This record gives sequence, C-alpha cells and structure tokens, in this order.
Amino acid sequence: MVKVITYGTFDLLHYGHVRLLERARALGDWLIVGVTADDFDRSRGKINVQQSLMERVEAVRQTGLADEILIEEYEGQKIDDIRRLNVDIFTVGSDWVGQFDYLNAYCRVVYLERTQAVSSTQLRADQQRLRLSLIGDAAEWTALGKMARESRYVNGLEVCALCVPGMDAPVDGLPDVAWFSDPHAAMEQADAVYLITAQQHGLARDALNSGKHVLCELPYAASVRECRELIELAKQKNCLLMPALKTAYATAFERMILLLQSGVIGRIVNIESTCTSLLKPGAEPVSSLHSWGPTALLPVLRLLGDGWVRKSALTTRHEGSSADAFTRVDFVYPHAAASIKVGNGVKSEGELVISGTKGYLYVPAPWWKTDYFEVRHENPADNRRYFYQLEGEGVRWELAAFVSAVQRGEAAPRMDEAMCMAVSRVMEEFWDGVGVVEI
Ligand code: CTP
Repeated sequence: MVKVITYGTFDLLHYGHVRLLERARALGDWLIVGVTADDFDRSRGKINVQQSLMERVEAVRQTGLADEILIEEYEGQKIDDIRRLNVDIFTVGSDWVGQFDYLNAYCRVVYLERTQAVSSTQLRADQQRLRLSLIGDAAEWTALGKMARESRYVNGLEVCALCVPGMDAPVDGLPDVAWFSDPHAAMEQADAVYLITAQQHGLARDALNSGKHVLCELPYAASVRECRELIELAKQKNCLLMPALKTAYATAFERMILLLQSGVIGRIVNIESTCTSLLKPGAEPVSSLHSWGPTALLPVLRLLGDGWVRKSALTTRHEGSSADAFTRVDFVYPHAAASIKVGNGVKSEGELVISGTKGYLYVPAPWWKTDYFEVRHENPADNRRYFYQLEGEGVRWELAAFVSAVQRGEAAPRMDEAMCMAVSRVMEEFWDGVGVVEI
C-alpha cells in the first residue's frame, strides 16, 4: 500500500484545496491529511485564519478524500509523522517548491501544480474589506507608521487614510497613504478609524455617530462619564468600539493570563507592574500616568478586576509642567494588593511580578513586549519557562482581532467595558487629586 501525506491550514475550504487533495489521493492508496493547529499557524505568522481547527478538520473530513486526518502542532513534526506512519510520498502545492526537499531523505516529495486564482487569503479578504483611517497627533507618528505597516499582515484590512490634525504634509517616514489634515475628511474615507490623539474622545464620538467602527487608545476619555457615553453610543449605533492596547493582544500576555487564572501560582496576592521611559531630547513632557497607565493597569485589571476598596497615589511632576514624571498607584483589594509604577522622564526596571500562594510569575523588562515569562516556585526544579513568538509587538494581533470582531459583529474582545471605564476612573481621580500625594 502506498501511503501519501499532505499538510495545510484548509481555512474556508475551497476548490484549490479539493483539487490538491484529489491529486494527492491519486498518487497512492491511502491519504493522510495534516491540518495545522491554530497555535502552529500563529507561530508561523498566519494570523487571521478564520475557522477553528475543528471546523477545518470537519471540512477536510467532509470532502471524503482523506483516509486519515492528523493535527500538525509543531515545527519538525512532518519528519516524525512520515517515519512513524511509514509514509511513501509527501506532497504539497507548487507554492512550496523546494521548501520540503529535505524530506526526500525520508520519502518521495512531489509538488503538485497549485490551482490558479483561488486562495484562503483571497477569500478572507473578499468576505469583508475593512477600510481604516489612522488619525493621530504629530508626536504619535511612530505609532501611526507602525499601525500602517502592520496592517499589511492582516487580510481584509486596508489603511486608506492617514491624518495628523492640522498638519498639511505627511511626516517623513510614514508609509505612502492618502494624507489628510482634517480628521473628519479622513474619517469619511473609511469604515473604521484608529485614534491616538488628545482629541480622541470627540473624534470617537463623531466617528461612532457617522456609523464608523473605532479602535481607540486608552483612556477613551478624561472622565468615566464620557467613557461610558462613548460605550453606550457604540451600542446604540451598532458599531464596535475597541481599546487599542497592543500588549492585551500579544499571545504571551494572553497565555500568561490564562495560566494564572488556572491557578499555576495559587491565589494571586500581589501584582507589581512597572512601565517607564525617558523623554526624547527636546520633547515636551507628557503625563506618565496618561501614556503608561493603561498598559501598567492591564494585568491588574485583568487579574484582580475593578473592585478595589482603597487606592492611593504618589506622584512627582516635571519642573514647570503639570505633567507627572513619575507616579505610583497602590490598590488594595479585599484579598490582594497591586501597585503600578509609571515614568515618563524617570527610568526603572520595566518588569511585572505577580505573587501567589504557590509561587510567582515573573516577566522581565520590557514586560509589555512580552514574548517570554517564567513561573517560579520555592524549589527551582519546579520552575517553568514559557516562550512565544511576538511579531509586531502585538499590533498585528490587535488589528486582526479588530477586523475579526467587526466581521463577526462582536463586542470588544478581551478587555471588557468595565476595564476601559476603570482606566478612565483611575485617570480622572488622579487629575482630581483623589488620594494623591505629591513628592
Ligand atoms: N493549494 C492549491 N491551490 C490553491 C490553494 C492551495 O493547490 N489555489 C494547496 C497548497 O499548496 C497546500 C494546500 O492546498 O498544499 C493547503 O493550502 P493552504 O495553505 O491551506 O491554502 P491557501 O489557500 O494557500 O491558504 P492561504 O491563502 O492562507 O495561504
């Protein structure tokens, strides 16, 4: 019996896949199909596969062409499968020519002509093309550039306009996209807007009022009331309002939260989260709590929620400015405590330490660009290290989550509304001086 094996993602199963499977089957007597696991796809940069693993396996099963289906979970698994299952022929489409020649050491490798003019990428992009305008203050041009560049990895997303309000010509170094100085004109071009500006509350409201989806940096607004109004407006207009907080969408951060929620360090007793940066030469001082607060608060709010019973802050301001250079906010919860330290013009070790009754979780600096963390116990032999791929610092995952939520008509994923409001609450109480000591 001649055994044939082939692998693929098989997302939104199409004619090209079926033709490939038919020809693969015709090469022998028994066809094994390897379907890639979600994690494996993510690690190799396929970021917006639309169907779940089970849906994709089921679609392959329903073709009736596979005699056996397995899941491909790790790099190098093909060699293992071929040896273990005594495979005679490995085959894939011609888009992979040359890339699997190393398997010739174990079986025959056959590249089959790829079917023209159909692909999962194209189908995903055709389902819904979301046009996004990027609007930000001049000081945020690096963030705008990163968004524009990272958007190219996300199927179905097109950045159609860039805008720095009031600036007539594009900033050097930004990708070549239609430029607008008027944010409302930029908004009109698109189905959705990304906002990173001091005026984002008003612009988010205008965008939602004209039926656009909004991806907005936190805090949405300077007060809880305004933040709530935006959230309500989004619901009323049936639009997505999603927080832009790239760390929240990074695989390692997401996995870290799940691991902690499943009790790996026991009950969480304390969280210490530090995010700082120095000022760029000549830059105007900006508030450290405003720029770093939402990120520093993320693990605290995700793990302990917004039910603190006491909160106090220590802060020091830049000379001659109302902007805080360094702020520390301490939270007391009924059974836990947390502390965030943020600096803009003051530098510290940007680590995250989460203490529990059975051990602690440590994320080295800069923890908000997490691709690695450790779970540590009393006995070092019990320590575990976790590594993940972090392409695009979470930005492309954030964009992929935004597109997918719009397509599915979902509410904001991952960070719920209460958390967005909690961020605004911490900011508002700080500006009002509630429990704040100046040092
Ligand atoms: N394939 C093919 N003809 C196509 C598309 C895919 O022969 N038009 C083959 C691929 O070469 C591969 C298998 O089908 O051997 C599974 O491919 P997969 O990567 O799942 O499909 P794509 O449509 O190429 O997916 P994507 O656009 O996400 O890369």
